[in-house]
Amino acid sequence: MAVRQVNLGTLMHGVLDLEKDMLALQKISLACDIDPDINVRGDPEKLKQVLLNLLANARDALQQGGNLHVRVDGTEAPYVEILDNGPGIDPAVLQNVFDPFFTTKEAGTGLGLAIVRKIVDQHGGSVHLDSSPGHGTKVTVRLAPWEEKALPFIPNRVATGYRCNASSGVTNVRPRSRACATSSRAERAAGHGGAR
Ligand SMILES: Nc1ncnc2c1ncn2[C@@H]1O[C@H](COP(=O)(O)OP(=O)(O)OP(=O)(O)O)[C@@H](O)[C@H]1O
Ligand SMILES: [Mg+2]
Repeated sequence: MAVRQVNLGTLMHGVLDLEKDMLALQKISLACDIDPDINVRGDPEKLKQVLLNLLANARDALQQGGNLHVRVDGTEAPYVEILDNGPGIDPAVLQNVFDPFFTTKEAGTGLGLAIVRKIVDQHGGSVHLDSSPGHGTKVTVRLAPWEEKALPFIPNRVATGYRCNASSGVTNVRPRSRACATSSRAERAAGHGGAR
């Protein structure tokens, strides 16, 4: 995994931008509640896949139109919530939804949520699906926060003017991010860090 600092709001906006035409076509109304300052430790491409899979499920559930609500929040304990007011999930189905190849859709592969769980597990996070028939579905993904303190050499970089602006900062810290990922794993093994 290419672990680095990922701004969850920016990632979500990017994914919603990809989804917006499909949402409009399906007459789905979108409400966003996105804190722009939520940063997590993760692989942006993999986390993007998580959001895409979850939004695809919400879209599928809202075939006849409906409401989609997306939330990004939690500075200390970052989370994403994706809520739809679709038909919801029967309890007998709900217990299987994360199983690979389990699907209730004619053209589904049943891999969407299995992939979500695998990626979230790789990130030391958690995914929870809350649903009942007639009450829609809420998916909550919790991820480890990005911790600046895991970058011990930042002060030197700042002193030499290395971090000149936000966007180049992200690019420039890449080599250190890898080092941090290692130290974070070590921290987690020692019982510290953000695994939930
Ligand atoms: N938001 C949702 N509303 C209602 N049912 C859902 C929702 N999300 C998931 N499900 C149920 O969970 C099942 C498994 O979802 P999953 O994403 O793993 O596979 P899929 O959507 O069926 O197929 P694929 O992801 O390959 O298109 C779905 O078939 C559906 O029954
Ligand atoms: Mg799916």
